[in-house]
Amino acid sequence: MAKKTVLVSGGAGYIGSHVTVELDAAGYDVVIADNFSNCDHTNYNGVCEITGKKLPLITMDFCDLDAVRKLFNDYSIDAVIHFAAFKAVGESVADPLKYYVNNLESFLNILTLAREKGCNVLFSSSATVYGEPDELPVSERSPRKPCTSPYGNTKQMCEDLLRDCVSAYPNIKGIALRYFNPIGAHPSALIGELPRGVPQNLVPFITQTAIGKRECLSIFGDDYPTPDGTCQRDYIDIVDLAKAHVCAVARMLDGKMEEGYEIFNIGTGRPLSVMELVTTFEKVNDLKLNYKIAPRRPGDVTAVWCDPSLSEQKLGWKATRTTEQTLASAWAWEKKLAGK
Ligand code: NAD
Ligand code: UD1
Repeated sequence: MAKKTVLVSGGAGYIGSHVTVELDAAGYDVVIADNFSNCDHTNYNGVCEITGKKLPLITMDFCDLDAVRKLFNDYSIDAVIHFAAFKAVGESVADPLKYYVNNLESFLNILTLAREKGCNVLFSSSATVYGEPDELPVSERSPRKPCTSPYGNTKQMCEDLLRDCVSAYPNIKGIALRYFNPIGAHPSALIGELPRGVPQNLVPFITQTAIGKRECLSIFGDDYPTPDGTCQRDYIDIVDLAKAHVCAVARMLDGKMEEGYEIFNIGTGRPLSVMELVTTFEKVNDLKLNYKIAPRRPGDVTAVWCDPSLSEQKLGWKATRTTEQTLASAWAWEKKLAGK
């Protein structure tokens, strides 16, 4: 049977590069397209080294409809995984139009071409759509809550765009994966997260503090109604997360979907507090981290973790890597970046 081709938009970024590696390992042809607005060539080069292939790389902007059309004419694409978006929550509050334009326009163009060509669409959504949940763990049936940022709104809007297009156009099928908190790096330390400027997310801030790039980690609040007072999240290893995409693509391309539009939570199902994560990082990497307790960060939810049983049943996917393995990979990546 002919190999299927998967387009990975934003494929030179953090998640896209890890997904490309897993798609290649599973036997798919992959086309990577990125405008390099939030990355350089580090991860693309790493992907080529891991796979041993010079994978097709198109430098283009998904907000440019003509460029997207050309891409879909140049390649016969069976499925697209759409990562090309901006993702900094704070920046989206400061400059909402930047987020609404990029995240919505790029996805509208993907949907336009998916409709023209008849193509499956996998959208990278986020646990942010659940807001502050009433009940934990959250399942896919849990209600979406108003988001606290334009970034979160774009995730909800894109989910709705996909749902509506699938219901109107019979030649499109769609899956939205709602990621919990992706962390860590590939075990090879050849690809990983490359935050620009001061990291907003916890794990890159921890690794940059441990390496000496930042002086001190601020733990945002220790007075939450949780067992140790710090927020709880569902941290998911990046390689486990990447493998979920291969399962979802196979489900779409092998005709296994039960509905035209499906949603899956991608997490471990295990809550971990900020303090537990910091302590585990110190223990597994045998170091002491400089940290202090700071005020709560506006917009943070107290706790969110998922029920991943639907993904297990329908995608045949389950997180397998331990927090220790993941935090060791994050540290190995930071050391590699620092040339240590
Ligand atoms: P990333 O910034 O590393 O990757 C996104 C890539 O898309 C970047 O390489 C960027 O250059 C590219 N890009 C952005 N706009 C583009 C455009 N208009 N045209 C072409 N390329 C464009 O981010 P990531 O962490 O890999 O996230 C990928 C996706 O997953 C995003 O949609 C993000 O919102 C979503 N997501 C991420 C997380 C997370 O914690 N990292 C959590 C939930 C959802
Ligand atoms: C955030 C976004 C979410 C996005 C995700 C990945 C919000 C409300 N949510 O999730 O939409 O999908 O990033 O980009 O912004 N923390 C510290 N000190 C730090 C950094 C973080 O204590 O320096 C704490 C936070 O308070 C939080 C936890 O660590 O409790 C995780 O934070 P972070 O990595 O930023 O992810 P989220 O806020 O869960």
